[in-house]
Amino acid sequence: MQQSPSILYASNLKKSYGTVEAIKGINLNIQGSGVYAILGQNGAGKTSLIKCALGLEKITSGTLQVIGSAPGTLQAKRQIGVILQDSDLPDLLTVKEQITLFASYYPTPFSVEKTIEMCALEDFADKRYKKLSGGQKRRAQFALAIVGNPQLIFLDEPTTGLDIEARRNLWAVIRDFAKQGKTIVLTTHYLEEAENLADRIMIMNSGIIVADASPSEIQKQSKGSVIRCETSTSYEVLQKLTGVSSVSISGRFSEIHSTDVNQSLSEMLSLDPNLKDLTVNQPKLEDVFGRLSQGVK
Ligand SMILES: Nc1ncnc2c1ncn2[C@@H]1O[C@H](COP(=O)(O)OP(=O)(O)OP(=O)(O)O)[C@@H](O)[C@H]1O
Ligand SMILES: [Mg+2]
Repeated sequence: MQQSPSILYASNLKKSYGTVEAIKGINLNIQGSGVYAILGQNGAGKTSLIKCALGLEKITSGTLQVIGSAPGTLQAKRQIGVILQDSDLPDLLTVKEQITLFASYYPTPFSVEKTIEMCALEDFADKRYKKLSGGQKRRAQFALAIVGNPQLIFLDEPTTGLDIEARRNLWAVIRDFAKQGKTIVLTTHYLEEAENLADRIMIMNSGIIVADASPSEIQKQSKGSVIRCETSTSYEVLQKLTGVSSVSISGRFSEIHSTDVNQSLSEMLSLDPNLKDLTVNQPKLEDVFGRLSQGVK
């Protein structure tokens, strides 16, 4: 089978700012279309990775290629759309004027009208950028990221500050893009966003990718199950049962994380045959993420 070409390729990539090592050796090979989410705590290195991929920051060592080209070359730029975390735009142009200007940078852009419609910007397309609200500015920036009909789109925290409707609209456009064969690399602090959108989730922690998998695989990486019930058995006793790795109390419920759910449950039932409202679930992505981003593998 023929391998699809690499869209984003990194090999032992490192980036330091003076003595701060923001990226400490990343290997990455994103091939083909889809949505790739990068999660990670503040300062994990997400924006640094995107800035290096855009050629806005020079890498310190290793290899980095974007659509087969070196970052920052004209060839790469004409195939890439982007929202940066701290993007800002000229105040005095209207949204429509900005979109028209950006469309002119690309070889096969969408029409300005189609872009305004896709991004639901009709209500403020003729307003000057400086008169927009924070969320409206973000939506205008998104339009500029897609107007060029690029192969690869980097979105650094694209939905920060958006209301629910605007966020859902943006998700729909992103999904549509992925279906059309585009590659979207986005960073987010919202697990719901990664779970809803991403085909693959990467978790960064202190400049390293500590997990790289589909949302369901990442859930599976966290072994065991979460038993939740109302029980008269005390926290101290629950902690000592076979297979139990942690216990937490949430309102009237005890939550027991166990790697041997059958044995833990049978011991719990013999201690308290009247335990109520029992559920057994896989740990949530949020729990797994919390453990992985603290470096616990
Ligand atoms: N221009 C810069 N000069 C010096 N240090 C920087 C610079 N940009 C980033 N850093 C440092 O590099 C590290 C990674 O920062 P980066 O912005 O990549 O993190 P991030 O994962 O995007 O975080 P956030 O979730 O807060 O956006 C941090 O320690 C940060 O202080
Ligand atoms: Mg960032």
